[in-house]
Amino acid sequence: MRVAVLHGPNLDLLGRRDPAQYGDVTLVEIDRRLSEGAERRGIDLIAFQSNHEGVLIDWIRATMDGVDGWLVNPAALGHTSYALRDALEAAGKPFVEVHLSNVLAREPFRGRSVLAEIAVGVVMGFRAESYLLALDGLLAHLASCGRADE
Ligand code: DQA
Repeated sequence: MRVAVLHGPNLDLLGRRDPAQYGDVTLVEIDRRLSEGAERRGIDLIAFQSNHEGVLIDWIRATMDGVDGWLVNPAALGHTSYALRDALEAAGKPFVEVHLSNVLAREPFRGRSVLAEIAVGVVMGFRAESYLLALDGLLAHLASCGRADE
């Protein structure tokens, strides 16, 4: 079982970017916690961050045949990017959309996701913990589809 984690634009600034919304945990620390959590759950996990939409899409292409599903924090691209949505849909693997902040409690433009409709589910508002909650959600989904024993 292998899960890939995709982090979108500006998430490399976590730790110093708007801690009131995102907390003070760095992306390196989030990836470390995810790797630890994945190890405890007996799965492989790979993670990637880019500030560029096309690079994120290329990474989806490069990894899509070797993963069972994704955790995707699209950052602002989640509000706008039909290209990212199409790439995830074409890849045909389940994903959970993740946000550190509760986007529904913020500016109106953040309340719209172009990905949520094709996601297994959305986890938001739990800061860094959102990712681990999303990992459990994705694993529960994969188990219910009979993929967890493969
Ligand atoms: C975010 C929320 C987005 O609205 C924002 O553009 C981000 C981070 C979050 O994790 O809360 O960059 O995805």
